[in-house]
Amino acid sequence: MTSPNGHGVAFPPDFLWGAATAAYQIEGGATEGGRTPSIWDTFSRTPGKVKGGETGDVACDHFHRSSDDVKLMADLGLKSYRFSLAWPRIQPDGRGPANEAGLDFYRRLVDDLLAHGIEPWVTLYHWDLPQALEDEGGWPARDTAGRFAEYAEIAHRALGDRVRYWTTLNEPWCSAFLGYGSGVHAPGRSNGADALRAAHHLMLGHGLAVQAMRAAQPDHQLGITVNLYAISPETDSPADADAARRIDALANRVFLDPVLRGQYPADLIEDVREVTDFGHVREGDLAIISTPLSVLGINYYSRYVVGAPDGESTGPYWRAPSNWPGSESVRFGSRGLPVTDMNWEIDAPGLVEVLERVHREYPAIPIYITENGSAFVDKVVDGQVDDPERVAYFDAHLRACSDAIEAGVPLRGYFAWSLMDNFEWAWGYSKRFGMVYVDYDSQVRIPKSSAKWYAEVIRRNGLSPSGSEGQERAQ
Ligand code: FCB
Repeated sequence: MTSPNGHGVAFPPDFLWGAATAAYQIEGGATEGGRTPSIWDTFSRTPGKVKGGETGDVACDHFHRSSDDVKLMADLGLKSYRFSLAWPRIQPDGRGPANEAGLDFYRRLVDDLLAHGIEPWVTLYHWDLPQALEDEGGWPARDTAGRFAEYAEIAHRALGDRVRYWTTLNEPWCSAFLGYGSGVHAPGRSNGADALRAAHHLMLGHGLAVQAMRAAQPDHQLGITVNLYAISPETDSPADADAARRIDALANRVFLDPVLRGQYPADLIEDVREVTDFGHVREGDLAIISTPLSVLGINYYSRYVVGAPDGESTGPYWRAPSNWPGSESVRFGSRGLPVTDMNWEIDAPGLVEVLERVHREYPAIPIYITENGSAFVDKVVDGQVDDPERVAYFDAHLRACSDAIEAGVPLRGYFAWSLMDNFEWAWGYSKRFGMVYVDYDSQVRIPKSSAKWYAEVIRRNGLSPSGSEGQERAQ
C-alpha cells in the first residue's frame, strides 16, 4: 500500500506506534460496576448541550467488548494503546477508597494488552470529573487538585506494576476553557476567572500526581498531554501580531510555561488583568506544577489564524469569545485550506512548527504525539469503508513528524486519534474520527482503509514512496 504524497520515509527503530481513545467516548457501561455519573453524564443529559441529545451511556460498548477490541488492536499491529481511566469508576465519590470492580475492568484490559504485546499507556483524566466533585466546586476549587492526586495514587498503585507510561491530564485547555469559559463542554459553566482558576488547579493536581507517582516508581514515564496550536496572524500588521501573541499565551503558553518553566507568562498575566489577579496561585504552587516530567504529550489537530480587531468569528466552537478571557475581541479566520468534517483546516506544516517551537523554546524533553487525526463522513459500501481523505491526513502529518525528527526534535512516538469511531463530545456520534468504523446499532466494527494503511505503516516502520505500489520500502 502506498502513501499518497511524496518520498519514502523511515522512522527511528524504536518509534512507538499507537492509537488513542478516551473512557467516556468509548466505554459505555455508564452505571455498571459501581460507576457513578461524571460531569459528562450530567452535561449530555442537559437538553441542548450535545447534538441530538446523545450520551456516552453505551458509546462503543467497550466496557463489554474490550477483549475483542484488543484483538483488533493486535491485528493492526499497534505497539501501544493510549486509553483513559474513568475516575468515577475507580473512585465513585471522587474521594475515599477505591472501587475494586472499577479497577478490575482496567486490570483485565491491561493484562489483555500485555498478553498481545501492546504497551498500555494510561491517561488518568480525559475530562470525566466525578459529578460529586463538581458539586463541591469542580476544578475552580483548589481542593479538586488534591482529590485528583489521591485518585492518581490509587490508580497508579493498582496498575503501576504493569503500566509504565502515565499521562496525568489530557488537554487541560479544554477542561478549563471549554468547560468553565464558554461552557460548550461539561460542566458547562461560563466565567473567565473560573476558567483560569480551573487551569491552575488542573496543573496543580497534575504536579501533585506526578510527585506521588514518581515517589512510588522512579523509572516510570510520566507526563501531561497538551493540545497545542500553530498560530498565525492574518496579516503582518502589529495589531494582528498582538492578536496572535494573545491567543498563543491563552492556548499554548498558559500550560507550557508553568509546567515546563515554573512560571506564568508575564504577558498573559497582563492580558487577563481585568479577569483575575491570580490570587488563587499560592506560594510553592509553581514549583509543584513544574515537577520534572519524563515525557511531553502533544495533541495536534490544526492551526489558529487570528486577527484584530473585533469582528465576526466563524467556525468551530473553540472560537467563541468566552473561551479567550481578556482577549474576547480577537477574530479567528481561516486560510481557505481544505477542512475536515469538524471544519478544522488541514495544516500539517503547523505540526512541524509546533514541534520545533517546543524543542527550541523549552527545556529538552522527549515528545510523543498523543493524538492526531481527522473526522470525515464515512460510508459503509458493500461492507467496506474507504476513507482516502483520512489516509492522506495521516500521511501528511506523519511526514511532518519525520521532518521534525530530521530537524532534531526528540519525537518518540505517534498515537492516531482514534482507534475507533466514538462519542465526539458536544458533537455526539455525528463525527467519525476512527480508523475502525463502529456501527452503533449492532456494535459491529469494520476496519476502514486507513486502518489497513496504518497497519502497513507500522509494519514498515515508515511510509512508502507514492506511485511505487509499495515495492520500494522505507528502510
Ligand atoms: C481532542 C480530544 C479527543 C477528541 C479529539 C478529536 O481534543 O482530546 O477526546 O475529541 O479532540
